[in-house]
Amino acid sequence: MALERTLSIIKPDAVAKNVIGEIYARFEKAGLKIVAAKMKHLSRKEAEGFYAVHKERPFFNALVEFMISGPVMIQALEGDNAILKHRDLMGATNPKDAAPGTIRADFADSIDANAVHGSDAAETAAVEIAYFFATTETFSR
Ligand code: PPS
Repeated sequence: MALERTLSIIKPDAVAKNVIGEIYARFEKAGLKIVAAKMKHLSRKEAEGFYAVHKERPFFNALVEFMISGPVMIQALEGDNAILKHRDLMGATNPKDAAPGTIRADFADSIDANAVHGSDAAETAAVEIAYFFATTETFSR
């Protein structure tokens, strides 16, 4: 199995629901280690930059507005097959399609406010982690 890192964001809706700890517990129980973390209220520029790959999509403005509507909790997770493991924990993008027991099934209200973000591949994970964390802010343990 490959030791990987992935970027996780607990979005404004889930932060407002006070479930950061419950979500962290799911990461840790699944064998994912939190190797960097920060709470941040993203600026519009930061959110637009993070989601730049989606800028032509019809939901881009709504996604940016939502992501700057309140603070987010951002972390890098490390573990065997961390990218897929984390996506399995999150569940499908649309909570209506998310399997029971996944984070989105339990905490997300809609596709617009879907509780969490996770990197989708190793290349994007590296870019996304570097977008929010300096190398001195991540820790191997
Ligand atoms: S993916 O993983 O890139 O294929 O997912 P995708 O479905 O293309 O969605 C990309 C991000 O956009 C969010 N999204 C939406 N936001 C608001 N409204 C609508 N309708 C919508 N559809 C998709 C989706 O949650 C993804 O954001 P992140 O932060 O990566 O989860």
